[in-house]
Amino acid sequence: MSTILVTGGAGYIGSHVCKYLAQQGYTVVVYDNLSTGHREMVRWGAFEHGDVRDDARLRSVLRKHKPDGVIHFASSISVGESVMDPGAYYENNVLGSLRIMQVLAQEGVRPLVASGSAAVYGLPETVPVRETCPTSPINPYGRTKLIMEWMLEDFARAHGLPWMVLRYFNAAGADPEGETGESHDPETHLIPNVLKAVRFPEACQVSLFGDDYPTPDGTCIRDYIHVMDLASAHVLACEHLLQGRPSQSINLGSGQGFSVREIVQAAENVTGHKVPFVIKARRAGDPARLVADPAKARQVLNWQTRFSDLENILATAWAWEQKKAR
Ligand SMILES: NC(=O)c1ccc[n+]([C@@H]2O[C@H](COP(=O)([O-])OP(=O)(O)OC[C@H]3O[C@@H](n4cnc5c(N)ncnc54)[C@H](O)[C@@H]3O)[C@@H](O)[C@H]2O)c1
Repeated sequence: MSTILVTGGAGYIGSHVCKYLAQQGYTVVVYDNLSTGHREMVRWGAFEHGDVRDDARLRSVLRKHKPDGVIHFASSISVGESVMDPGAYYENNVLGSLRIMQVLAQEGVRPLVASGSAAVYGLPETVPVRETCPTSPINPYGRTKLIMEWMLEDFARAHGLPWMVLRYFNAAGADPEGETGESHDPETHLIPNVLKAVRFPEACQVSLFGDDYPTPDGTCIRDYIHVMDLASAHVLACEHLLQGRPSQSINLGSGQGFSVREIVQAAENVTGHKVPFVIKARRAGDPARLVADPAKARQVLNWQTRFSDLENILATAWAWEQKKAR
């Protein structure tokens, strides 16, 4: 069976993908510098400590394990941090992706499946967002993801490197068996922060940014996609490319939008506790609605979501949150 090298496999999405790859019979090798990842979340394959910008180390790991493909998650992920420190984001996300492409091209390892983001669309003019919508990121994080896509197009043309970028909307939820989950520090994502506020009501309130958007309840609407559904899409993307089918960028979302208030209500239903929250001013650059059109993923990858109903997302995330507390 094939071997897949997973950069960033000690992180949130990467660890779920590693588990799913192993379940599907793939041999997994995780390459991670543990800057935000966790050694204990590397449970489904070999671990190689290394930085994606370190081309010598990457090359030696590729020669040692001879993978049949690479899935690239390693990246810095916070929009706010990228505005404060754009250099760190261009360095880690653009230079890191460039080094991977260069080493893969030199070593003849292919294909490459990489984490994209809905952030490449910026403030989309039409929702649901299709891949044909103009890309116009409005922050350094989104720009680093778009530059990675441009580099992939150039490397494919020059070196025949097959690639797929999966543009995730809001990754959410946790492994239904509770073996891995979301553990960012600091956490910027809504659902884990809502659940943390349930756990520590005295210490933290969750901030809801803006309740005067042109949406039914005034709060922003987002598309939440369960991390296990993301996992299956990555394996389908690898198989697609290993069969010699075309390189392209594809949205991964559920196609359904939920408002911030609906998330709070769902969290209260699942946990049985009130969520302490405070309404704050809008954040610059937050679109009112950001929802994927997932038709292309269904058509090209034959991908179907199995885990992404809101209650299941909240229930698996809540189980993980409680497990972390033990
Ligand atoms: N979480 C989301 O909702 C979301 C949405 C859209 C896109 N993404 C993208 O998905 C990918 C994974 O996100 P995540 O939420 O799992 O993040 P994460 O921080 O949990 O995981 C990232 C992993 O990459 C590793 N890493 C970072 N820089 C590295 C480097 N230079 N060399 C080696 N390893 C490095 C970290 O140690 C960590 O294990 C990222 O590329 C992110 O931009 C995430």
